[in-house]
Amino acid sequence: ISLKRGGGGCLKNARFWGDVAKDFFWKTKHTGQFLDYNFDVTKGEIFVKCMEGASTNISYNLLDRNVHERKLGDKVAFYWEGNEPGDELTVTYRELLQRVCQFANVLKSQGVKKGDRVSIYMPMVVELVVAMLACARIGAVHSIVRRSLPSSLFLPLIRSDGFYRGDKLINLKLLADEALQKCRDKGFPIEKCIMLKHLSKEAEETSLGSQSPPAKRSCPDLQVPWNPEVDLCWHALVRGASDECEPEWCGSEDPLFILYTSGSTGKPKGVLHTVSGYMLYTAATFKLVFDYQLDDVYWCTADIGWITGHSYITYGPLANGATSVLFEGLPTYPDVSRMWEIVDKYHVTKFYTAPTAIRLLMKYGSEPVQKYKRESLKVLGTVGEPINPEAWQWYYNVVGERRCPIVDTFWQTETGGHVLTPLPAATPMKPGSATFPFFGVVPAILNESGEELEGPSEGYLVFKQPWPGVMRTVYGNHQRFETTYFKKFPGYYVTGDGCRRDKDGYYWITGRIDDMLNVSGHLLSTAEVESALVEHEAVAEAAVVGRPHPVKGESLYCFVTLADGVTYNRTLEAELKKQVREKIGAIATPDYIQNAPALPKTRSGKIMRRVLRKIACDERDLGDISTLADSSVVEQLFQNRCCTAV
Ligand code: PRX
Repeated sequence: ISLKRGGGGCLKNARFWGDVAKDFFWKTKHTGQFLDYNFDVTKGEIFVKCMEGASTNISYNLLDRNVHERKLGDKVAFYWEGNEPGDELTVTYRELLQRVCQFANVLKSQGVKKGDRVSIYMPMVVELVVAMLACARIGAVHSIVRRSLPSSLFLPLIRSDGFYRGDKLINLKLLADEALQKCRDKGFPIEKCIMLKHLSKEAEETSLGSQSPPAKRSCPDLQVPWNPEVDLCWHALVRGASDECEPEWCGSEDPLFILYTSGSTGKPKGVLHTVSGYMLYTAATFKLVFDYQLDDVYWCTADIGWITGHSYITYGPLANGATSVLFEGLPTYPDVSRMWEIVDKYHVTKFYTAPTAIRLLMKYGSEPVQKYKRESLKVLGTVGEPINPEAWQWYYNVVGERRCPIVDTFWQTETGGHVLTPLPAATPMKPGSATFPFFGVVPAILNESGEELEGPSEGYLVFKQPWPGVMRTVYGNHQRFETTYFKKFPGYYVTGDGCRRDKDGYYWITGRIDDMLNVSGHLLSTAEVESALVEHEAVAEAAVVGRPHPVKGESLYCFVTLADGVTYNRTLEAELKKQVREKIGAIATPDYIQNAPALPKTRSGKIMRRVLRKIACDERDLGDISTLADSSVVEQLFQNRCCTAV
């Protein structure tokens, strides 16, 4: 490793990443600078380009290269573990390559071309990875959906019939049909839908590799309405497709995927990542941060629909030829030992999860963990939100039995991969600190006036130069990209997080400093939840704040002012909850809704969220509230606080 952490001039940086690039296949070499960029809005348009002029294909590098050059064809790529214990499937690199080629041919036969956008709405099944890599193979841009479909995007949609989450059946087909209707209503008809039958009857008869799908997976009664003009069956299409497909050679800066993430204005942003830089960055961070070795069995419990799953289930591990567990279910089903049972079953060595999952399992004590040996574990990782020291200690002492270093990885959908992180066993740990920057990443802490602070300090976390995996733009709105990340402090990428640096130079993330909430490691914007609430005819105004939650980190506390003549009652409360859930997703379900006949506002009409946060937490030290137009509102809200979750 030739690059100092947190530093390295441009030349050294290029040399380091150039060495990483040597492991990969390039159809043509790059012609421009290795990493070219402008981070200063005052000097022109913001851009980042990595290896311009080179061409490659990421699916070729993840699959063909591993099968043919590295002779890893018989190595297991995924141990798929279904929701139901006993449902399992093993897929080798060779099989994965065949399946990806088959499905790439299917996409081509449906008219999908390089540059087309393909939306994917599927549960945690191997076919989800197949669909992503098939898009990448033909140069199509995937966008995995976790919430309502952005209507302007897609040519085809790939989805599944349904899946079980614990003992709850989720009918994805009906959800997707509703979303498609909305797209049609807005004048964006989706041309084709390819549907994977995962639970319904036909799934049992189809070709999931050489192994027959386990019986427990099926749900013959699942209602799957079928529209022959739009709906196509995955299995029927794949059956006739060739398992060879020449990859489409893509430019380094061609788009690889779009992933929507919450924006503080309430409108989700389509974060766009490109081929080469993202490949190098996810591959290198995976290898070094998890100290990846060829005989490791790695398990990341995230959903592939989140960036963690993109970077550290699909791209990073496969780029290294890693063997991973792909888990469809929940940590608490059928009981709270499920995670540890899976660790023993597959001899998992590297394990990556979120603080919210750790806190959830911590509630049940150490006995469900100690029922299993966990002897194989070597490195434990966390991601998604600051990990509180209690959860860190429990993870370290109970799960890892004080043997396994913890890598607390700080990063974002936008950063593509880890940016602040320990290296296991090499970085002395401090519980709750993401420690130091990854190679080539240069952080700074700024004060409100944009001055860089030296030594121990606290302020805005920013980055001074790009790394290969940083996002390139907000899909369809480059101006929004510049405004969101580069306008506040010209010359820096602004993360939106607060950060403290201690006397030893360790970085400690203190949480978001914009109007974003972090619920179970998932970012939500308050504006987004507020607009879902005010779309209900009974609501005149809404204000949402975060309230600390022992498992989720933060929960949603919503204040609603009702329209004239409407009375507040439990039925309305349930309707509002449902409305937010349907508009945004289950993760955004409000925990508290308070009827607020008036909201605390300044004389200029701005809602004082700071005061609302205090009310939500029942903290009376309000600080200076002299700018409030009517301070009696505050007392009224304190008196009617919600003490129990709805
Ligand atoms: O606030 C930080 C928090 O999660 C945000 C990024 O969320 P998202 O784009 O959904 O990506 C999550 C998975 C990478 C960050 O701005 N965050 C993420 N990891 C950590 C964290 N906060 C503290 N410590 C972390 N390790």
